[in-house]
Amino acid sequence: MKLKKVYLDNAATTLCDKRVVDAMIPFYTDKYAVASSDFSHSPGIEAKEALDKAREDIANKIGAKFREVIFTSGATESNNVAINGIAMANKKKGNHIITSSVEHRSVKEAIEALEKEGFTVTWLPVSKGGFVSVDDLKKSIKKETLLVSIQHANQETGTVQDINSIGNICHKKSVFFHTDAALSFGRIPLDVKKAKVDLLSITAHKIHGPKGVGALYIRDGLGIVKCMYGGFNEFNKRAGTENIPGIVGFAKAIELIEPNEIKYIEKLKERLYDGIKKELDAVQLNGNQKDTLPTILNLTFRFVEGESVILHLDMRGIAVITGSACFSRSLEPSYVLKAMGLSHEEAHGSIRFSFSRFNKEDEIDYTIDAVVNVVKKLREISPITPDN
Ligand SMILES: Cc1ncc(COP(=O)(O)O)c(C=O)c1O
Repeated sequence: MKLKKVYLDNAATTLCDKRVVDAMIPFYTDKYAVASSDFSHSPGIEAKEALDKAREDIANKIGAKFREVIFTSGATESNNVAINGIAMANKKKGNHIITSSVEHRSVKEAIEALEKEGFTVTWLPVSKGGFVSVDDLKKSIKKETLLVSIQHANQETGTVQDINSIGNICHKKSVFFHTDAALSFGRIPLDVKKAKVDLLSITAHKIHGPKGVGALYIRDGLGIVKCMYGGFNEFNKRAGTENIPGIVGFAKAIELIEPNEIKYIEKLKERLYDGIKKELDAVQLNGNQKDTLPTILNLTFRFVEGESVILHLDMRGIAVITGSACFSRSLEPSYVLKAMGLSHEEAHGSIRFSFSRFNKEDEIDYTIDAVVNVVKKLREISPITPDN
């Protein structure tokens, strides 16, 4: 079999589209002034115009106003700024935070840090499909509750939470609502007003934009503690020279999303899942087939170790991961899959396949073949079998 290179780790990051790179280059080579020089000279005005246009485009994409979007270095920063910023600015209002047990580390650890500072935290469990119960959430809100932070889509399984219902509850109870939309943005509909979100985090590199650029939506009138001192940038909320090439690239990546691309990606996911299911027994879908991102397929292959599977697939040129990207360095099974009720062994046998518009059908067929071969071979020599 001829070796192919197949990248199926698009939930970790995506290829920066060549057209995005082309849009960014002039902002390094020619239009390199900083936006804060717009009071002084024409190149500064040009930079400020580019920054404003990108902000306008991104705000439009999520149904926000121009002044409600600030640029950051990515979703990790946006999550930290949102959670810390709102908690520190509103300590007197309450000290209770509600979140889920499956959040990305940048939310989980930001909230754990606040827990150490004296905040109390409710870590909501999830169902087998990875869903937070909206009813549980409602019951957990008390008079001290300041903030609810529930992600839009999960980094490992792609499970999509019902943020519209969650937002409505928070709004009615006058509790701030933050959502981490790093993986859902540009993939499924997202409207900050409909979801009554107060704070929302997004990032460019998951949608074929550059790395190190993200944005935070902060609802108009919401007070958060300034996250970086030393200038008036980003409506005086985040000091520091804006990464204009990156921000222009972010806006370009959004512009390039085709209305039909998600249907195409979903077909690739179905093709892979159907192809694997047809050939292999004891394969379980982690998450739910319906309310999951079209870009992520998380499967457990019983009786094999995920680590062995990914190494063998890598030798065949296929890039996938076991657990989440952040977890690959640890032998601990993923806390997300464990929260969904998977056993240690099931979590260890899990593989995340994630897709983009650059994947092709023949890559999927090649992957089906490789997965089936590798799993069958590993099962033949596996010490864990259905009988022990
Ligand atoms: C759900 C989720 N939130 C946040 C992040 C962090 O994003 P960034 O790499 O832009 O800091 C990621 C990236 O892996 C993610 O998947």
